[in-house]
Amino acid sequence: MGNTVPSSPETEEIVMDIETVRSHGFVTVEYPSQLRTSVVAAMESWKKFCELPDHEKSKFSGGDRRTDFGYMLRNDKGPNADHKEQFHVLRLNIEEMKRISDEIRDSRATLFIDAIDSLITEISPLIQNFAQKVEQYYGLAGFEKEVMNSQDHWVFRYLHYFGSETLAHEHADRGGFTLHTNESDEGGQYLDFSGNWIPWPVNEKQTIIFPGMGLQHRSDSELKALWHRVKPTPASLLQGRYAMVTFIDFQIDWKWDPAQRIQDMSPGFNYDLLNEEFKKFFVRR
Ligand SMILES: [Fe+2]
Repeated sequence: MGNTVPSSPETEEIVMDIETVRSHGFVTVEYPSQLRTSVVAAMESWKKFCELPDHEKSKFSGGDRRTDFGYMLRNDKGPNADHKEQFHVLRLNIEEMKRISDEIRDSRATLFIDAIDSLITEISPLIQNFAQKVEQYYGLAGFEKEVMNSQDHWVFRYLHYFGSETLAHEHADRGGFTLHTNESDEGGQYLDFSGNWIPWPVNEKQTIIFPGMGLQHRSDSELKALWHRVKPTPASLLQGRYAMVTFIDFQIDWKWDPAQRIQDMSPGFNYDLLNEEFKKFFVRR
């Protein structure tokens, strides 16, 4: 192999140990400095956006509950009710979001939409890099292209959990793979392959990337969809919790059967399951 090229801020290399996706269920990636700046800016602008009055925030709501995008408030009742606000955006929604923020004329809205827009652009090379390494290391021919062809449908989700007991229940993601981009507080945990819940290392300096059901299917169960959950901490109970998550899908003929509720499965059921059994949970797109 050739010599290592010294890195400058413009050409900072993205380093990841792709073997850990198979051995540990996820990979940790340190952000290049420019991307880190964008991640921090997006998080800070999301917190400011949350301060907007409800009637302004609700102007960003779009679609119905299944296909919705933009701003959503979940204020359900009951013991396990969701109590959070979130902003959910795809690249193809950005122009509409800009139009709405121009109408609102509040810098908290415009700065947030601008920050989302630049983060989508800035994070794309990291996602491509992951896809390329997965393709090469695990021999998934065509995977990088499948990921990059679905860019318009990557989901960028911004979450604000109010200071309640209920955060994210244990689950695995049904899509391709997930980046936990930034979190304001600890409390995130993953289920390791021995059945222990372990805190994960997410902060503004680094992200983790882990497979969902889609990548487990695509890799014939060589990579496993990682179970995870978010527990409240004393700080999050008091101040709430802010988080940014990116969901990456890719072009594939199969999808997790929507009739199968992941929440009803036993945590880690997919870790030791034979691939033929795992594939029974999928239906044609
Ligand atoms: Fe998740």
